[in-house]
Amino acid sequence: MMKKWKHSLRLLPLLLAVSFLLSGCGKQGVSALEPQGPVGHDQAWLMLFSLAIMVIVVLVVGFLFTYALVRFRKRPGQEDVIPEQTEGNMKLEILWTVIPVILLAILAVPTVAKTFSLSDTSTPKGQKVVTVNVTAHQYWWEFEYPDLGITTAQDLYIPTGTKVVFNLTSKDVVHSFWVPGLGGKQDANPGINNHLWLKADTEGTYKGRCAELCGQSHALMYFNVKAVSPQAFKQWTADMKKGAAAPVSAEAEQGQQIFQQTCTRCHATDVKNKSFGPNLANFGDRDNIGGVGQHTKQVLMSWITNPDNVKPGTNMPAFGQGQGGKTTLTNDQIKAVATYLMGLKVQHQ
Ligand code: CUA
Repeated sequence: MMKKWKHSLRLLPLLLAVSFLLSGCGKQGVSALEPQGPVGHDQAWLMLFSLAIMVIVVLVVGFLFTYALVRFRKRPGQEDVIPEQTEGNMKLEILWTVIPVILLAILAVPTVAKTFSLSDTSTPKGQKVVTVNVTAHQYWWEFEYPDLGITTAQDLYIPTGTKVVFNLTSKDVVHSFWVPGLGGKQDANPGINNHLWLKADTEGTYKGRCAELCGQSHALMYFNVKAVSPQAFKQWTADMKKGAAAPVSAEAEQGQQIFQQTCTRCHATDVKNKSFGPNLANFGDRDNIGGVGQHTKQVLMSWITNPDNVKPGTNMPAFGQGQGGKTTLTNDQIKAVATYLMGLKVQHQ
């Protein structure tokens, strides 16, 4: 018996090491426990507050339980002694009914108050809000700024220190819009408009994700929220309206031609237009290919060749030869299209 114990004890350092490793998983901009805006702060506070109440309850109950075990355990020589049997104690019954009621009331007051303030999408007096219409698709995100006449996808630009109001809907199934570092989440349902607001205090890129099982590639339905200074945001909207620079090489020009013949049925490259697939106006400025892959020409080429390898179940057909798609392109053609798309940048240094 003792040996067994010693053996288990040896695992303790390993357990500690793993806990330390896992505690390093919370990265800024990814974790709901390191919020970077008022909505996230309120939600994190609510989580910790309810956790504190729960911990107190567990400690008190655990103590009482242990006390009863020790106090009334069978002692040698007292095997036949039965402690005093009590049935129904009014004071105790009232006590353990009233305490949970009080705890729930303490929990309910801030929860209800915060729920209302977090769903308040009105414009604060004397301030401006940025409105974004979000449409979720299997498996990507469309962002439309109705007041700016801009539509984009996957990378969402927002100004810091500004209330951003989201109107959420879906083109197909139920998705859920979540930016752990800023707050959320809220369902995006087909045929319904849901609302949410967020604000980023600090500049940076925040990972967004879909938080509702929506199909094969649900876990890959990422997006990026790029919080930039209000001046940089103004510059970005001006750049977006100007559009991407013209292709700079013969290969990119060839790619543009192929793109116009093959891809424009689904993809717009003008920020004014919505399209069946993601709008690619600033594709060259993006952080990821298809929301998951690294933003390199190689990854883009394998995406065009067979997107299903990267994101199973996507609506984008395969264009590589021998991949089963209706329209096929040669490797050189795919390379040209990739060169053209990587050059679609609106941000010029
Ligand atoms: Cu969209 Cu999960």
